Amino acid sequence: MPLQLIRNDITKMRVDAIVNAANPSLLGGGGVDGAIHRAAGPQLLAACRRLGGCQVGQARLTRGYDLPCKYVIHTVGPIWQGGAHGERAQLASCYRSALALAASHRCKTVAFPLISSGVYGYPKAQALQVALETIAEFLSGHDMTVYIVVFDRDAVQVSSKLFQNITAYIDDVYADAHADPAGRFRQLPAAPVGGFAEEAASFAPPPRTAMRPSVAHPGLDAMLAQLDESFTQMLLRLIDEKHISDADCYKKANIDRRLFHKIRSNPHYKPSKQTALALAVALELSLEQTRELLMKAGFALSHSDKGDIVVEYCIRQRIYNIIEINQVLFKLDLQPLGY
Ligand code: APR
Repeated sequence: MPLQLIRNDITKMRVDAIVNAANPSLLGGGGVDGAIHRAAGPQLLAACRRLGGCQVGQARLTRGYDLPCKYVIHTVGPIWQGGAHGERAQLASCYRSALALAASHRCKTVAFPLISSGVYGYPKAQALQVALETIAEFLSGHDMTVYIVVFDRDAVQVSSKLFQNITAYIDDVYADAHADPAGRFRQLPAAPVGGFAEEAASFAPPPRTAMRPSVAHPGLDAMLAQLDESFTQMLLRLIDEKHISDADCYKKANIDRRLFHKIRSNPHYKPSKQTALALAVALELSLEQTRELLMKAGFALSHSDKGDIVVEYCIRQRIYNIIEINQVLFKLDLQPLGY
């Protein structure tokens, strides 16, 4: 998944480069700057001394020394002054400069803290939005995996309205599903003869005699010959019908280009449920189409799975921004869509 929101201590990240939220002197400080210098050891400070400082919105690179990453990219975020002093543009420039420097050093994996959202006072929700938008824009043209490493869950402020609506929807649906897990007491209207009973029979396991090996069943052969459209075939048909490119699709789904090409090149590929759902969101499918595409991969939406309920809610509300959906999933400690 090219853009991931995770909770961790950035000094523990085993990536090509971590980004430091530094100050113009580059001589260390508190917060993440202090944590990185402590973990990297004294050689980092010596290297930073040789850099001679850094301007706001710019980025400089050193080795990682005792850190588990190859490089540290030091950038200096804006100090929040209320938002009318160009802070947003300066903060976006931090992400762009750091990503450009990482790309020029052939970094494939980069981890950012939420720059300026600590000592420098940038409101966390806005700082996160700038980070997500700027990184997503960069990833639309580059192959890289970027982690936004948040130190505390409340740093991820999803829109409270959306969050309230989704948690209320989960409470309704999830509780209901758990009140009657087998659906024994629901959805079983008195089936008219030849109605539900007949349909149920068609799903009942075939009588034992039918299981005995015997000559090939011509009916079965015919059925096998008319296999339904596979997941890949349905996916590619929908991409054509929506008149979008493959790249638009996998970027919007926040899945890796290589994974998409694995799916595209194998007509019988079975993706993970998170990948199938990410593609359904990217294609802006209806709930029915999503269920059909999911079924092709061997999955179903379940009201016993909170992550599925979040996705179902968003699709019903036509919320197809995968980053927004993943922020809600992150906030609820549920697995994000993508991969
Ligand atoms: N891993 C990940 N994130 C962290 C870590 C960590 N180990 N430590 C702190 N953070 C988070 C904070 O919770 C905050 O959300 O990093 C974000 C940035 O906070 P600061 O480190 O305070 O950076 P910033 O707001 O950009 O202020 C920079 O603070 O440390 C000094 O020298 C630095 O003067 C500079 C100023």
